[in-house]
Amino acid sequence: MSETLDAVFQRRAIRVFETIEISPALRERILDAARAAPSSFNMQPYRLYWVESRTMRAAAARLCMGQMPAETASALVVAVADIGSWRPTAQGQLAWMRQSGFSAEKVAEFERKTKLAKWFFTQGWFGSLGVLKWVIFRLLHVWKTIGMPPISRQGLFKWAVKNTSLACENLMIAAEALGLNTCPMEGFDGRRLARLLGLSPKYHEIVMVIAIGRKSARHQDQPRWRRPLEATVRIL
Ligand SMILES: Cc1cc2nc3c(=O)[nH]c(=O)nc-3n(C[C@H](O)[C@H](O)[C@H](O)COP(=O)(O)O)c2cc1C
Repeated sequence: MSETLDAVFQRRAIRVFETIEISPALRERILDAARAAPSSFNMQPYRLYWVESRTMRAAAARLCMGQMPAETASALVVAVADIGSWRPTAQGQLAWMRQSGFSAEKVAEFERKTKLAKWFFTQGWFGSLGVLKWVIFRLLHVWKTIGMPPISRQGLFKWAVKNTSLACENLMIAAEALGLNTCPMEGFDGRRLARLLGLSPKYHEIVMVIAIGRKSARHQDQPRWRRPLEATVRIL
């Protein structure tokens, strides 16, 4: 456990990498760690694009405004919030439950939840259904204690971005623990990068790009500053 904490505290945003090759085994380990992150309803509403080929990496780095971490990284991981993957994800989990011998009752319960999910995810013509659902929940909320589920398109993206960010942090900590370094970046041209990756604006939003590689001797860590604990935390 203390090794996990070491990785958490050692991780820094690295601005210059030395060129090394990341083996497929190491790549898989890091990506596996990313998707081990918790997600709401276990829906894992994100995709991770590991960009390592020379031409794609150069094109992606250019769209990260030519930032030094992007230009020098061994790979760029584009983390994409994805609100269009819920159906195959739910079907995949359902198939896995059936194969793994879950009781008929558990399978039926999951099927019920999947039907409910459809209601949340469907946005209707120009998002009109999303707006209607939002109004219904606001009215219900007047006299009932309820959580506000992510029902509008904007709400769904907010929900997916939350989940994507957790996977990103897992990825960075795993990379650190495995002897690599990272730099999260939001300085990129989202529209052009989305086009490069063939993303759909209807379902996808790039959350961040993570440069990954080994820290160069040219990189100089600046002292780390964080707000005092009491400015960030309130103990009640
Ligand atoms: C969402 C996000 C976006 C960031 N965007 C950039 C970026 O575009 N370029 C960059 O050099 N660093 C970027 N950073 C890194 C931060 O500047 C860095 O994490 C912060 O200064 C704290 O330093 P540390 O990570 O070394 O502790 C980003 C970090 C996050 C979490």
